[in-house]
Amino acid sequence: MPTDLFAVNGRVVSASEATVSVLDLGFLRGVGAFETLRTYGGGLPHALHEHLGRLWESSAAFGLQPCFTEATARTLIGELQRRSGHDEIRVNFVVTPGSNTDGVFGADTPTWVLIARDVHAPPERSYSEGVSAVTFEATRHLPALKTTNYLVGKTGIQLAERSGAHEALYVTAKGYVTEGVTSNVLIVKGRRVLTPIVDCLAGITKAGIRPLATAQGLEWYECNLTRDDLYTADEVWITSAVRELMPVVRVDGRSIHDGAVGRWARTLRALYHQQCISEAKRDAERASSGSR
Ligand SMILES: Cc1ncc(COP(=O)(O)O)c(C=O)c1O
Repeated sequence: MPTDLFAVNGRVVSASEATVSVLDLGFLRGVGAFETLRTYGGGLPHALHEHLGRLWESSAAFGLQPCFTEATARTLIGELQRRSGHDEIRVNFVVTPGSNTDGVFGADTPTWVLIARDVHAPPERSYSEGVSAVTFEATRHLPALKTTNYLVGKTGIQLAERSGAHEALYVTAKGYVTEGVTSNVLIVKGRRVLTPIVDCLAGITKAGIRPLATAQGLEWYECNLTRDDLYTADEVWITSAVRELMPVVRVDGRSIHDGAVGRWARTLRALYHQQCISEAKRDAERASSGSR
């Protein structure tokens, strides 16, 4: 029977043993960074190097140095996947400064956790029929980083849930759509792909799709987008590590174009999925030959 498994400070443990102190600054003061990736090809992590790079960039915001290596993470992911019994897993890394020792933010020893759960990839219907999204006015705290502070996103997700939507998209006070609560946002107009790069996370999925899109003859623009840009787009996409490229066919109750999944979403999602499989395999081979 497959089970979810955890690694707490490098030790693989079951759910009941996967605990951290109530004095942990992640719990006490909401200080933490995280990453999510998924495996392909039977437990091989995709873009581990990139996700760890971003994890350390985010955690540098609260003064944390890298506290484990890529090789350790790769070994742990392999062990977690094998012992969990899941074919593929989604892995959340969470790092915090650790238990409060003195003052408001004092801590000596970071806490780092890997959470390995069934990948729970979205159903194929989400890709063949598309999903809907709503917009809401808010900005994530430190939007260039992936901190554990997602409180503001909860408002958006509640709004999405109330209207049966899959994702909520942040809109700034100036009226710019920046990203989803857990995804990046892109649109297609003619042969142009347009995506914001201000007030949002530099998505690893989005970066991986870019060369595939340009190889298909699409031009890639980084620019501000308004709600109207979305409403009048030919296609709207959201991207994230687990969802890859997901087509959005309704925004705020309005159909995008003819309300069907566009050709570029279909083409690029298929290409990106294949690319993830081969990159995960290539990285595993490089790691085992010692070149990464
Ligand atoms: C706020 C936010 N933006 C964008 C993304 C997409 O990033 P990536 O493609 O690196 O998973 C995520 C992923 O969880 C996210 O939480």
